[in-house]
Amino acid sequence: MDIVEIRDLALAEVCSADSHTKLEEARVALLGRKGRITTMLRSLGELPKDQRPIVGAQVNEAKRSIEEAIAIRREELDTISSNTRKLDAVDITLPGRTQHRGSLHPVSQTFNAIEEIFVSSGYNVVYGPEIEDDYHNFEALNIPEHHPARAMHDTFYLTDGMVLRTHTSPVQVRTMESQNPPIRIICPGRVYRRDFDRTHTPMFHQVEGLVVDKGISFAELKGTVTSFIEAFFERKVDLRFRPSYFPFTEPSAEVDVMGEDGWSEVMGCGVVHPNVLSMSGIDPEEYSGFAFGFGVDRLAMLKFGVTDLRVLFDNDIRFLRQFG
Ligand code: FA5
Ligand code: MG
Repeated sequence: MDIVEIRDLALAEVCSADSHTKLEEARVALLGRKGRITTMLRSLGELPKDQRPIVGAQVNEAKRSIEEAIAIRREELDTISSNTRKLDAVDITLPGRTQHRGSLHPVSQTFNAIEEIFVSSGYNVVYGPEIEDDYHNFEALNIPEHHPARAMHDTFYLTDGMVLRTHTSPVQVRTMESQNPPIRIICPGRVYRRDFDRTHTPMFHQVEGLVVDKGISFAELKGTVTSFIEAFFERKVDLRFRPSYFPFTEPSAEVDVMGEDGWSEVMGCGVVHPNVLSMSGIDPEEYSGFAFGFGVDRLAMLKFGVTDLRVLFDNDIRFLRQFG
């Protein structure tokens, strides 16, 4: 056998080794102390002098390619065994992992639905501060200091005559101060009162509505509120206007919607009091308006069939997941 044949046989042996043990056996048999190639290198001295360099170069070349083949085969065997380990570690019979998609909070969904209805009928959306001064929260709404109506709002008082706004009505005032009629706005936002029971939370949400123009009356208010409620619930609902009192509207009403536990109050409303218009610089002889302010959380409660308002703010993920 010449050296090339010996080398090819050796390479075939290396490449077919199907385990690290077999590969190591082949390596020892070829390159070990008594290995075939090692022996050949040792016996070079027995050759005639002129043949030594030629055969020597061939044997060394064979040794290098065998070493290279062993290194490559070793890596291949490493990859194969780690893949096998990985396959063993994966139980392909387990069910797939599902991804949880987040969703908007039911109150946010309710805000979005409300805004869509009003914006599509030409209302602008405006915002006001949650820390409000006494003038805008009370005084400019025809509720002077010591007026008994202040007791209707369990106010959180801050220092320097500031309060956490108890309703979104101060945004009406701010809008009338800065804009001329015709005005057609809604004001969504957070409001605060010292309240806590099944239908009252200390922080809740209101949407105020204000329309000021020539010849606006209670009839427009009634039509607007009725069609809003029907659009919001996407069905005919039992609703009633109950006479009520607010210092900033005259006449005034509260609106109740029939829910699972009977009538539930969702809003206050009325024809804007002439004093309120004139305090904000609008001539009540020329213009009139209507206003309403409803509880967003109450509407969410009725729409989603929630019986305790407080669960809306517990942040219990099991509750919130139902609204995905
Ligand atoms: C007002 O806040 C008036 N500003 C509404 C108004 C605006 C009248 C414009 C006239 C013209 P009231 O206090 O009734 O009114 O509150 C309005 C609605 O907010 C209630 O009908 C109810 O749905 C909701 N609400 C009141 N207090 C709470 C509370 N603590 N938690 C959750 N919702 C509440
Ligand atoms: Mg009320």
